[in-house]
Order: sequence, then structure tokens, then C-alpha cells
Amino acid sequence: MVNIGLLGLGTVGSGVFDIVKDRNESLKKSTGKNINISKILVRDASKNRNLDIDNSILTENVDDILNDDSIDIIVEVIGGIDLAYEYIKTALSKGKSVVTANKAVISLHLEELNRLAKENNCGLLYEASVAGGIPIIKGLNEALRINKIDNIEGILNGTTNFILTKMYDDNLSFEEALDLAHEYGYAEADPTDDIEGYDAARKISILASLAFDAKASIDDVECHGISSIKASDIKRFKEIGLAPKLLGCAIKKNNEFSLTVEPILVDDTSLFSAVKDAFNAVNLDCDIVGDLQFYGQGAGKLPTGNAVVSDIIDIINEDYKKFDYCPNPDIVVGENSLFEGLYYFRASLDENDDKKIIKAFEDKSIDIKYEVQDQELVILTEMISSELIANLITEDLKLPAKSYSYLRIESEVLNSLVDISF
Ligand code: NAP
Ligand code: HSE
Repeated sequence: MVNIGLLGLGTVGSGVFDIVKDRNESLKKSTGKNINISKILVRDASKNRNLDIDNSILTENVDDILNDDSIDIIVEVIGGIDLAYEYIKTALSKGKSVVTANKAVISLHLEELNRLAKENNCGLLYEASVAGGIPIIKGLNEALRINKIDNIEGILNGTTNFILTKMYDDNLSFEEALDLAHEYGYAEADPTDDIEGYDAARKISILASLAFDAKASIDDVECHGISSIKASDIKRFKEIGLAPKLLGCAIKKNNEFSLTVEPILVDDTSLFSAVKDAFNAVNLDCDIVGDLQFYGQGAGKLPTGNAVVSDIIDIINEDYKKFDYCPNPDIVVGENSLFEGLYYFRASLDENDDKKIIKAFEDKSIDIKYEVQDQELVILTEMISSELIANLITEDLKLPAKSYSYLRIESEVLNSLVDISF
């Protein structure tokens, strides 16, 4: 028998609970052991939960779990950063293996926690921290046994993909789509992390750390989200055959890497454009096998619960010992961004001066096409670096938040300014 201490019984925790209960026989077949969730930490044990559960295993005191010598594996799904980090550290120090879905903690503390796990001869697995139900960490580690991977691109946030899909396909407003994402349990407790790109930034930094043997963090990610994309932008994108997707991108050249999370316009016939709702997709550009693509549900109770339970199996079977993470201190974030593209830019003229904006682009010798449509200035740029346009908008022009949007164009069809007309 393997006893599990479950920290958290919300969206993911209840998924783990249901899967362990419903699939006990197949889990026994996979591990040769009975898996038993023996204690569960919650904030409020008196809360009415729609679960077939014996309430006596609920506790509001984490020490009941961390100090219980009969518990072998801790599953951390409470979320947040500081408490979760402390609980994971305590568990590992006591020789208990840990499975977590917490990208915030893993993106900040992967190296330290991985070292602590090794020192205490136990495992730390975090498959659910990136792309929900998709086995991307396993897939990446497997590919890395043979391949070098210098380029990763992916839709890594279910909430924003859901919002963009509903805006593009069903003409919902941003707010209506966000409310629905909350209702389905996709969004973080504070949805700012989703819509401003920080959640995807944590995920791409985890993937880059593993793929590049680097110590990448959210601070290395040039990040902007989708909250300022408006119905008028969506209408123009449809007219030119492009669809907006929030992509996490990681690229490495020699010993330097760059990371971005930004809304990108892709061909409406492309692979990423076919990824709808809360689904995620990740492309690994491998030097031997070629492109590897992973697709599946990026959030929600059962897909994420599946990733957590799969890690529990790997801990019990000691499969985690097959892969290691040892960052190379010589591989660092580059000073200049390695990303470039044509850019779509829109500014509302109720709050901005079109002449000042056009002049700022021209002063930087950026070749542009522009037009004023319905009190909005729309600009298309030539191929420029992502850093140049970000600095121009946020540092030189200092435009009011939410009064503009800008998106990189990644198209097989539209490769230069002359290809695009308003
Ligand atoms: P959630 O629905 O808000 O559930 C959190 C659970 O943790 C609740 O049961 C809550 O107790 C408990 N909890 C929170 N703070 C606590 C504290 N200080 N002490 C004791 N119990 C506490 O969160 P979630 O959506 O399941 O997400 C959990 C983690 O998984 C997060 O790190 C998230 O980023 C990650 N994740 C989520 C998804 C997803 O689709 N939701 C997907 C991948 C990864 P009560 O029930 O008593 O309130
Ligand atoms: N809020 C996250 C998302 C949950 O929408 O992708 C999965 O990590």
C-alpha cells in the first residue's frame, strides 16, 4: 500500500481524488500497489464538496500530513507560492516524494527542489505544471535523450486560448469569454496571471530550463498578454486570414537563449490556429527526429488530475530516476532578443495622437504601412525585432495601458509588408 497526502481538494485535487478512486484497479496493475489517499489538506473542512469522501480524512492542519510517517508521497495542489514552496521543501527534507501541479513554484525553485529531492533520495515530478493533461515534460525528456532542441513554441495557457477562440469564432466579448473560462475551472484564482501571459511565461521557462539545460525563470521572459485585444482587432485579423494565439516561444543560439510570451497572428489554416478552446499544443523542434507536436487539454479537473496521477505512478515505479536536470551555468539569457517578425499595431485615437506614433516608428527607421480606420490607427511594420517594438511602445511612446495592441505575425503566406493589405 502507498499512502498519499493530498494538499488541496479544489479543481485539480478533486480530479486526482476521483481518478484514484475510480481507477484503483488499473493503478494497482501499473504499480503493483494499492494507492490510498489517506489525508487531505483543505482550507475549510466544513465546506460542502460534491465528492464521495469520508470527511474524517480532511484536515486544516498541514502538520497532520507532513509529520505522518505512514505517508509516502505528497501531492501539492493548493496553488500559490510561499506556502506551497515551504510544504514541498518540508516534504522532500523528510524523504517524502512530491508531485506538484504548481508552475509558479517550479519555475522559481526547480533547481533547488530537484537538488533537495536527490539529497533525500526521493522524487519530485511536475508534469501537470505545464500544459495540463499533455505529457509534455515526459515527451521533452524522452526527446532530449537523443535530440538537441533549440526551439520550442506552444499554446501553453488554456484560459487565454479559450478566450481568443470564443472572441474569434463566436464573437463573444473578452469579459464574457473570461467569465466562462472561470466557470469551467480553467482560470487561475487571479486571472491576471492568465490574461497577461505570466502563467504561460512560467511554463515556457520550465520547458526552456529542461530543453536548454539552463536556469530560466519568469524574469527572463519578454511577456505581454491578450487583455487589450478588441473586437475591432479580431475583425481585421479575420479579413487578412490570420488568427491570434498567445504563444510561449523559446529559442537558443550557441550559449544564449530568448523567451517570449506574446499574442501572435498565425495563418487561419495553420496547426496552432486549429487548437481551440482550453486545448494546448506544443511544438518541439528536434535536430534528429524533426518537429514533434503535442496536443491535448491544457487545463481542467480530469486532464490535470491525469497528469498528476501519472506522476504518482512514475514515483512508485521509480521511473523518475531515468531523467535528471543539471543546469549549465554557461547557458544564459541573451542581452538582445532572438525573436523578430512583421508586427500588427493598433492604437485608439481617443487616447493617442496618430502623428506622434507614426513619427516614432519613422524615427527608428522602421518601414511601415498605416491607415486610420474608425478612430483607430493601424500600422503594419516590416521585419523588426520583438525588443525594438516593445521598447518603442512601452519606453519611448509610453502609451496608456489598454489603448493599443500589437501582435507579431508568423505566417507562411504573409512574409513581407507588400503581401498584406488592409
Ligand atoms: P483551486 O481550485 O483553487 O483549489 C485549491 C485547493 O487548495 C482548495 O481545496 C483549497 O481548500 C486548498 N487550499 C488553498 N490554499 C490553502 C491553504 N493555505 N491551506 C490549506 N488548503 C488550501 O486550485 P486548482 O485550480 O485546483 O489549482 C491548484 C494548482 O494546480 C495551482 O498551482 C494551479 O496553478 C495548478 N494547475 C491548475 C490547473 C487547472 O486547470 N485548474 C491546471 C494545471 C495546474 P478549500 O477547498 O477548503 O478552499
Ligand atoms: N490557468 C491555467 C490555464 C491552468 O488556463 O492554462 C492550467 O495550467
